[in-house]
Amino acid sequence: MSSLEAETAIVTGAGSGIGRAIAHRLAAEGFAIIVADRAAEGAAETVRQLEAAGHKTRAVVLDITDAAATQALINGAENLRVLVNNAGIFNTRAFDELTADDFRKMYEINLVAMFTMCQQAARVLPEGGRIINLASRAAFGARNYAHYVASKAGVAGFTKALALELAEKQITVNAIAPGVIVTDMLLERAEGLEGLRVQQPSGKLGKPEHIAHAAAFFASPLAEYVTGQILIVDGGRSVGGTAAF
Ligand SMILES: NC(=O)c1ccc[n+]([C@@H]2O[C@H](COP(=O)([O-])OP(=O)(O)OC[C@H]3O[C@@H](n4cnc5c(N)ncnc54)[C@H](O)[C@@H]3O)[C@@H](O)[C@H]2O)c1
Repeated sequence: MSSLEAETAIVTGAGSGIGRAIAHRLAAEGFAIIVADRAAEGAAETVRQLEAAGHKTRAVVLDITDAAATQALINGAENLRVLVNNAGIFNTRAFDELTADDFRKMYEINLVAMFTMCQQAARVLPEGGRIINLASRAAFGARNYAHYVASKAGVAGFTKALALELAEKQITVNAIAPGVIVTDMLLERAEGLEGLRVQQPSGKLGKPEHIAHAAAFFASPLAEYVTGQILIVDGGRSVGGTAAF
């Protein structure tokens, strides 16, 4: 492997929204990007955009709950230095209507698949390796989607535990906890964009790029001594308590 060869970043869920923005941002930092998503069309579109901008990239279409497929993804990622666990699902259910199956499905994708990918990646990441997980501001409490809240609280706790276990290997593990960011995922929210916007202290909703900047920081040498942290990026909505949620 030539020392001039780009280091690789895997971004799960990079076929849309926040993951696509992170893919663009890390590509601009010089990483070769593996776009890992179960949505073939979205993944192809991200690859098309990155290639048009002159970046090295390829798509791997997979479901992150398929451990054999994620192992093959990791095995095939030459010069891997960054894993961004961004793929996730969201839906709303009043507590009384939630089922154990709703909980299991949310956990399988948002938490168990993330654990598996972290374990697989940690076995091959070099010193200076980076794992960046997508939690959510909702991890600290929100109404009408307790299963999502619980899965993201799990991501936050897991990130801290893993940071301690991988510190000796000089691998950092951090999480980003976005507030309301305008992506397809918001279509699940009953409030509508305007209803969400007016709850923001700045009067502005978040953009995927706001999260991508945080990911770029955690991936960079500047964050060498930062691990086990959960960075809330929500335009200040959570400052002063959770009343707005
Ligand atoms: N948008 C927000 O307001 C917001 C807020 C807090 C946290 N987040 C988190 O940020 C992350 C990205 O969210 P987004 O808003 O970009 O959502 P999105 O729905 O636009 O994108 C999610 C992507 O993940 C992929 N994906 C879902 N399940 C998958 C699976 N099993 N295997 C492979 N790919 C899968 C989807 O195909 C999609 O491309 C998620 O983890 C989400 O929970 C989003």
